[in-house]
Amino acid sequence: MSFNDEMFEKSLSVAIGSMKRSVIRELLKLVEKPEIISFAGGLPAPTTFPVEELQEIVSNSLGKYGKTMLQYGSTEGDSRLRRLLLERFAKQTNIKGLDDKNIIIVSASQQALDMVGKLFIDRGDIVLVENPSYLGGLSAFNSYGAKMVGVDLEDDGINIEQFEQKIKEIYSSGKKVKFFYTIPDFHNPAGVCYSLEKRKKILEIANKYQFIILEDAPYKELRYENEDLPYLYQLDSSGIVVTLFTFSKIYCPGLRLGWVIGHPKIIDKLVVIKQAVDLCTAPFNQIITAEYMERGFLDSRIEKNKQLYSKRKNIMLDAFEKYFPKGKGIKWTKPEGGLFLWVTLPEKINTEDLFFEAIKNNVAYVIGSAFYGDQPKFNSFRMNFSYPNEEDIIEGVKRLGKVLDNALS
Ligand SMILES: Cc1ncc(COP(=O)(O)O)c(C=O)c1O
Repeated sequence: MSFNDEMFEKSLSVAIGSMKRSVIRELLKLVEKPEIISFAGGLPAPTTFPVEELQEIVSNSLGKYGKTMLQYGSTEGDSRLRRLLLERFAKQTNIKGLDDKNIIIVSASQQALDMVGKLFIDRGDIVLVENPSYLGGLSAFNSYGAKMVGVDLEDDGINIEQFEQKIKEIYSSGKKVKFFYTIPDFHNPAGVCYSLEKRKKILEIANKYQFIILEDAPYKELRYENEDLPYLYQLDSSGIVVTLFTFSKIYCPGLRLGWVIGHPKIIDKLVVIKQAVDLCTAPFNQIITAEYMERGFLDSRIEKNKQLYSKRKNIMLDAFEKYFPKGKGIKWTKPEGGLFLWVTLPEKINTEDLFFEAIKNNVAYVIGSAFYGDQPKFNSFRMNFSYPNEEDIIEGVKRLGKVLDNALS
């Protein structure tokens, strides 16, 4: 019997039926050829993965905790890992009094984005997002039928006047904002970091209009220059901020491990949701990670990652200066951390069209328009500097410089 397409289409939920395969995934398929130097992914450098330490830890832990590691675990997460994470967070932020009701372990932050979407969004609900924003977050909220309203991102965070103006318009049309999704530190894709003033202002506005702030912080600990700025969670005293953390960019994404810190009422609901999603995050991964942390490896790992990525970022910025055509209106961010640079071209250039020229020249980036919740712009692209090695960064930027030169002359 052949597959009945009509029956299949009619059986789909409204949310999934309206979802399309991501353009970016389709384009990234073109990037897989070995001759292409790709700046498109957001992958950590594989040389940063602690293979040897984990070999020893896995073997040792199986001996000690094998029966727990291979069993189902609690939905909230391994209690030792949660304790270690809370202790570390308290040390970093000086926040006292958080306990196990404030934290849930998740199968990395993408799962948390989905669970938060499930928790707050009914079809048609309004979610405020940065323009541009993280594609995976937008897709998660989209799958619950959110209506995304974008606010322009500037070098020091969103445009606050526009933020407040859009909120006023939403409220005066009788609707409300469910939450604001933000990546305040070393934004993906834009690389920017919010100023302290903007952090405070956003909290003030969210409190005034009474909506939740979803703070996504995968890059926060990857700061290469200047002083650390506080988490929004740290600045908030009213419990409206829920913060997502992940081990993906500071340790290893393959373990699919992250955590959420927030008000006990929010965490409690996330536990109920997670029970229906996957029962628990793999205890095996949680226990070896707790062991890794307890042995004091995590902080030194992060320091080494920072040294490597900072060097690669500077090499990429130098290569832009050297190989990108001058006086042609090309701008790029100069982030103090994270994994990405955001390049903006004159408006007449469409980076989707240019992508195919780049591929012909064996170099790839991610098109900027993929990162917009609404009103996409077409003249930007994202460059990753953590994955390609130093030589490839220079050669790849050189190739891209040629492509840009042709397009702009
Ligand atoms: C802003 C942001 N949030 C969440 C994620 C998801 O990461 P993971 O699910 O590996 O924790 C990423 C990955 O690149 C990201 O850039």
